[in-house]
Amino acid sequence: MIYDVVVIGAGPGGYVAAIRAAQLGLKTAVIEKSKTLGGTCLNVGCIPSKVLLHDSSVSSDFPKMMNRKTEVVSGFTSGVQFLLKKNKIDWIQGTALLKGPNTIDVGGKTVEAKNIILATGSAPVELPFLPFDETQILSSTGALALKSVPKKLLVVGAGVIGVELGSVYKRLGSEVVFIEFLDRICPAFDMDLSKGLQKVLTNQGMVFHLSHKVLKAKGTTLTVQGLSGEVTFDGDAVLVAVGRRPYSDHLGLQDLGIEKDSKGFVQINNSFQTSIPNIFAIGDLVDGPMLAHKASEEGIAVAELIAGHSPIVNYMAIPNVAYTDPEVASVGLTEEEVKVRKLSYKSSVFPFKANSRARCIDDTEGFVKILAEEKSRRILGVHILGPNASELIAQAALAVQLKATADQLADTCFAHPTLSEAIKEASLGLFKAPIHL
Ligand code: NAI
Repeated sequence: MIYDVVVIGAGPGGYVAAIRAAQLGLKTAVIEKSKTLGGTCLNVGCIPSKVLLHDSSVSSDFPKMMNRKTEVVSGFTSGVQFLLKKNKIDWIQGTALLKGPNTIDVGGKTVEAKNIILATGSAPVELPFLPFDETQILSSTGALALKSVPKKLLVVGAGVIGVELGSVYKRLGSEVVFIEFLDRICPAFDMDLSKGLQKVLTNQGMVFHLSHKVLKAKGTTLTVQGLSGEVTFDGDAVLVAVGRRPYSDHLGLQDLGIEKDSKGFVQINNSFQTSIPNIFAIGDLVDGPMLAHKASEEGIAVAELIAGHSPIVNYMAIPNVAYTDPEVASVGLTEEEVKVRKLSYKSSVFPFKANSRARCIDDTEGFVKILAEEKSRRILGVHILGPNASELIAQAALAVQLKATADQLADTCFAHPTLSEAIKEASLGLFKAPIHL
């Protein structure tokens, strides 16, 4: 049989692409080498980390929360298996190797396809002098499967993975010390969010050493170049969270002449096509933020393209969230990006201290910051540090997606008392004035 579409990789990019392709009447298969579906997000990423972030804020029973994490993950992975079955998608278990524009080898068996979607995702970056053993030198995968809580956890890299997992272990009693190369944490976020988050995490007892570079390591002892010379840090475990790299090796890309850049990202055109037009690539494997929901949007779009539709992924409207306490969430351009583009803009900040609901629930840390273009008054970016920021950002994403102006957002009626009113107040602050400040 020749499939219309074969997807390689069953993460949130790949399995979503497969479901959409099947919905559009295309005979589809997914090739996945792991025993479970769902990729990094479901098995060793977004989902298990959110279980631990939730449970560690309400309990200190570590074995119990690890068990619940396993249960939640297995519920989701079998849920994906059910969805594939429901949509009559074949799951071919094994490792795919591209043999030609229409041919894939899976453990000696040949699979043929009119269209191939590469969705193999990414893997944690390893530092050469700190190879992962997943018991003491941990990637995010190891940090999500520890048997006990380390007394002192060194975290190399204060990005999203670092601050989320650092928060989990801080709540469980670890001493948590960050060593970050840059002079700020979470560089993907607007600087005001990074600064605000660092302040609250510091108040929670986490320690940050910024502009520090790890030079070498002996076990869990790190030699670090600090601002005024070399310093040594000792820990019981080290989490290395210095980014992820596209998982584009061992796929047979080179033999087919499919181009990658120097970091391993597969090169595609605006239609997700690689240098071989019927082989597509999406998600962490290609340029852009390494986010599950970005991969899913691309998965839907590529399936629709193959089916002859004209989908559009709006990269301006992809939210980015860190599930710390308080949460951080953002959509659109950061102030730094607005400046780089030399746009003339206005910025408005509304603190949760002045929001009635935040005061009712005694959770007033943080603020909403909105940027709008001065002339068109179009919303350029919304940046939130505060309670439920991960949920609040959805309405901001809608505003950016629909190209709303500051006035349209400010003129919308928000229920009282809600945290969302901070968004209305911040948008009022752009060209009118906030009421409660
Ligand atoms: P990241 O890119 O967010 O942060 C890595 C940090 O490590 C940066 O601050 C960087 O300056 C620092 N760094 C790099 N090399 C270093 C070195 N040698 N020494 C010290 N610091 C160093 O990457 P992270 O946290 O590993 O996450 C990987 C990807 O996974 C990101 O793209 C992220 O967006 C995604 N992710 C998303 C989550 C979410 O949506 N909530 C949760 C976790 C990860």
